[in-house]
Amino acid sequence: MSLRTPLCDLLGIEYPIVQSGMGSAAGPELAAEVSRAGGLGIVAGLGVTADELRKRIRHVRSVTDRPFGVNQWLHTELRPPVDPARVPAATMRAVQTQLNVFRERLGIPTTDQPAPGMPDLIDEEFAVILEERVPVWSIGLGNPEPAMVRRCHERGIKVVAMVATVEDARAVEANGVDIVVAQGGEAGGHRSTWVKKPREEASVATLTLVPQVVDAVRVPVVAAGGIADGRGLVAALALGAVGALLGTRFVATRESMASEVWKKRLLESDGGTTLTEAYTGLWARSLRNRFTEDYAASGAPVLPTLMQQRAALDVFAAAAQQRDAEYTALYAGQSTGLVHDLPGAAEVVERIAREAEAVLVRLRAMGGPR
Ligand SMILES: Cc1cc2nc3c(=O)[nH]c(=O)nc-3n(C[C@H](O)[C@H](O)[C@H](O)COP(=O)(O)O)c2cc1C
Repeated sequence: MSLRTPLCDLLGIEYPIVQSGMGSAAGPELAAEVSRAGGLGIVAGLGVTADELRKRIRHVRSVTDRPFGVNQWLHTELRPPVDPARVPAATMRAVQTQLNVFRERLGIPTTDQPAPGMPDLIDEEFAVILEERVPVWSIGLGNPEPAMVRRCHERGIKVVAMVATVEDARAVEANGVDIVVAQGGEAGGHRSTWVKKPREEASVATLTLVPQVVDAVRVPVVAAGGIADGRGLVAALALGAVGALLGTRFVATRESMASEVWKKRLLESDGGTTLTEAYTGLWARSLRNRFTEDYAASGAPVLPTLMQQRAALDVFAAAAQQRDAEYTALYAGQSTGLVHDLPGAAEVVERIAREAEAVLVRLRAMGGPR
């Protein structure tokens, strides 16, 4: 039974399986393998310079001539990035005081210096996406301006935006995107909104969000959040989606850039995750560790979008060097309990397609004559 959906025709792919352009996990090796296998691989663009992004794009093209995408965050606090001078000194001090607890545990120098701001990279990255005519521009945490969408369309680039609410789905459709990704609350990583919302508001479960978004917009909808196998893909199709976008499943692949300790923790996890703002200042789903739990218990405030992460970079770097999973970011969704192995990314695509086809056959048999 064929798995082809309108998404396959729209993007020129074989299977309606999209790999998320995950910051810190989705490099060109991962994206190329997914695309080579017939899905849509997406390269992460978050925090990457124009030169590095161009290298990643060319790397994918050296492996496969199949369609792929590049992901960018368009959060309002990154356009332009918030100036650290605007953060009250007391907030900055309170953040550093808690991070100093972690620094002492890791045996690295403490600091009371303000965190550095984020570099302003969005425009230069977008220029590379246009110049290179990347087949798909994937947006997380943002609503692209109509002019940006128009420039993509002039070059034959498809535009995909991920949202976590029905209201935002309508907003990105109004600005001209070709495909909406509905991100349910089970999803690993950040809630895909362009202003920070209360965590409950941006964490509607996939089962209820996807059909609401399907009903609200005319463009095709891809489901994300909690999908890790063929059963999940078929469930997404049953909800009216034309495909599934997966993050957590692809973190645990040989080609993902995630660290070994991160992959190990993910494989050991039984699905228990938390929503934390301690890593970046925005709500993100991850595995629990000392960093998420002790930061929340401390009651310390968090800095604006990604400035929080910049403040903690030395902590993350020391933990990575010491292979200490307690003080590194372990983004993962609730599907961790479904992820038990570390295959190649192409195998994941092929396996999910095979499983989904078998589920469709089983469902058809259930509906047939008895
Ligand atoms: C480690 C990790 C990093 C992520 N980074 C990004 C990112 O940089 N940009 C983005 O649009 N989405 C990002 N996401 C969110 C995914 O796009 C997607 O919504 C989510 O992974 C789907 O749910 P799942 O993890 O249950 O498969 C990330 C997800 C994970 C797990």
